[in-house]
Amino acid sequence: MEADRIKWNKRFLSEDSFLGMAPSPFLQRKIEDIKLLTPGLHALDIACGEGRNSIFLAQHGFNVTGLDISDVALGKAGERSATAGISADFRLVDLESYRFEGERYDLVINFNFLLRELIPEAYSALVPGGIFLLDTILESPEALANHTPAYLLRRGELASIFDKLDGKILFIEEVTEGQMPTARVLFKKV
Ligand SMILES: C[S@@+](CC[C@H](N)C(=O)[O-])C[C@H]1O[C@@H](n2cnc3c(N)ncnc32)[C@H](O)[C@@H]1O
Repeated sequence: MEADRIKWNKRFLSEDSFLGMAPSPFLQRKIEDIKLLTPGLHALDIACGEGRNSIFLAQHGFNVTGLDISDVALGKAGERSATAGISADFRLVDLESYRFEGERYDLVINFNFLLRELIPEAYSALVPGGIFLLDTILESPEALANHTPAYLLRRGELASIFDKLDGKILFIEEVTEGQMPTARVLFKKV
């Protein structure tokens, strides 16, 4: 949606770096497990923003496709990749209407973005044995003060979403202390 693109472009223009340059701590913690678990090296970064996680994956040998609605964020992702000496396939798309047609991935990551109906779609784009990593904000008074409620996970929701998919939850947690409660999962498709 054009309104989302404009909103996110404004955010990315307002600061040098919206979520910082460092990759997600969860991704950093799990990268060695992920490298052992994924059947191949084709990765998808859903709502990749400025590319911090895509670049990290590329540095670990993955061929990464990053999808995002913000051309400003993708421009920065391209510049950062060039500086880091890696390449990734960053694509401008609206995930609300996106369809994974014929795309196949060994790894899907989804950080700080929640579009519930996209999760089973992205799961379908995983090859057998593929890995899905999702980490985003959990509903809490702190989060509700700054975020649209529909974009926040409810307690227990992540487990119930992934329990319905064929595969195994290898790791799941809800971290409720701290400034921004978060839920995260590492899942392997059968
Ligand atoms: C909080 S940022 C997270 C960026 C990245 N995943 C990270 O953790 O660094 C949310 C991202 O979702 C993207 N986004 C929001 N709505 C979108 C949509 N409908 N389609 C594609 N991307 C969208 C924004 O442009 C932004 O880059």
